[in-house]
Amino acid sequence: MATAPPEEMPIADAESVYFNNYPPPKNLPKHESLARAFINHHVEEKRRLVLVTSGGTTVPLENQTVRFIDNFSAGTRGATSAEYFLEQGYAVIFLHRQFSLLPYSRHFSHSTNCFLDFMEEAPPSSSSDSENGPLMVCSEYQDQMRDVLRRYRYAKQNNRLLLLHFTTIVEYLFELRLLAKLMYPLGADALFYLAAAVSDFFIPRDRMAEHKIQSSELPASMSKSQDSEKSDIYTGTNDMEPPKNSKKLVIDLDPVPKFLHRLVDGWAPPGSMIVSFKLETDPNLLVYKAQTALKRYSHHLVIGNLLSTRKWEVVFVTPDPPYERWIRVPKSKRSKSISGVEDQVGLAEVKKLHESEHLQNTEAHTSHETQDGITGGTEIESLIIPELVKLHSAMVEKAGRGS
Ligand code: PMT
Repeated sequence: MATAPPEEMPIADAESVYFNNYPPPKNLPKHESLARAFINHHVEEKRRLVLVTSGGTTVPLENQTVRFIDNFSAGTRGATSAEYFLEQGYAVIFLHRQFSLLPYSRHFSHSTNCFLDFMEEAPPSSSSDSENGPLMVCSEYQDQMRDVLRRYRYAKQNNRLLLLHFTTIVEYLFELRLLAKLMYPLGADALFYLAAAVSDFFIPRDRMAEHKIQSSELPASMSKSQDSEKSDIYTGTNDMEPPKNSKKLVIDLDPVPKFLHRLVDGWAPPGSMIVSFKLETDPNLLVYKAQTALKRYSHHLVIGNLLSTRKWEVVFVTPDPPYERWIRVPKSKRSKSISGVEDQVGLAEVKKLHESEHLQNTEAHTSHETQDGITGGTEIESLIIPELVKLHSAMVEKAGRGS
């Protein structure tokens, strides 16, 4: 059976090796017909369409999966951005990790904002025998909820939003390849906004355990089946001391082939715009890594963000001037994020602006009509998306002029 493609293999060959090694996800045919109809509809309407990827991919450790490796991404960036793209008139395919945040419902889901906290039971009407009162939205949340509900219903009723999900890295890659190819008729009207936190490492299928990896010795009577699976199992013996009941788990991961190359050079429609993200934790690396990704894949924009400040600042790294451009939520408008570290805002900026330029820059961005999140504060996506749409418009216009 084929293994992970070697690093030096041409990327188109690595693609065949990788995809031939896995059966397509079972949802793929259904997703294909939904996406084809959605895309064709918007091609006819001459509407721009963005593929937003969102959330983290899992890396299963067993074929019959009990355990998997995951990452932190909740899908906030993707779900929030999708809403602002819809507001800009785009149709959106939202390719997301199953059970991560979704556009619109994100305002009332997950533990910090459980929808039940927004509701109450009114007293039963005096004319009715029932002890049950009608369920209502609490008065203090009515305006916010009505606004979100209207925007959600508009998107749904006008067929502007298609939700497709994945869980594993393999499912994600099959879906990305499929959707990019289906988007061909859109040409320059297609935009790729790759906010998903995609795993860089995986276990090739032929090295993956079929069954749940055992954490302790099986009885001798079962050792035959155990023996036959031993080479499949990532369970190292305890070198220092022979194992008694419990074992160490050693996981050997291969790098995922860099499919961004294939997206840029093969799968995506010619003339379309491709935006990738770069996440770092070390401020000294962020701009360098974003620039390196831009050079390596020759696409159009890398949006860099630091884990600790990602809700308040991002950097646009482009092949053309100004090359490095920071977008920040002004201090007074930042939501208080429990995961954020305010002291780190500004640390990753390489091309330091003078104080006055910096202020101008920030104010220019706040002149957009920004939207406050339900927990208060300006959402940085309300600044990112209009800027991105300007860049996409310039590309569409250029393509229209045939240059
Ligand atoms: O979801 P949140 O909690 O809001 O967090 C948002 C985020 C921090 C995850 C997001 O803003 C972000 O930065 N996403 C990209 C994370 C990252 O650094 O990815 P990467 O370096 O592994 O990949 C680079 C780019 O290529 C990404 O755009 C990724 O989506 C894309 N990619 C990577 C590998 C691959 N096989 N396929 C891809 O499409």
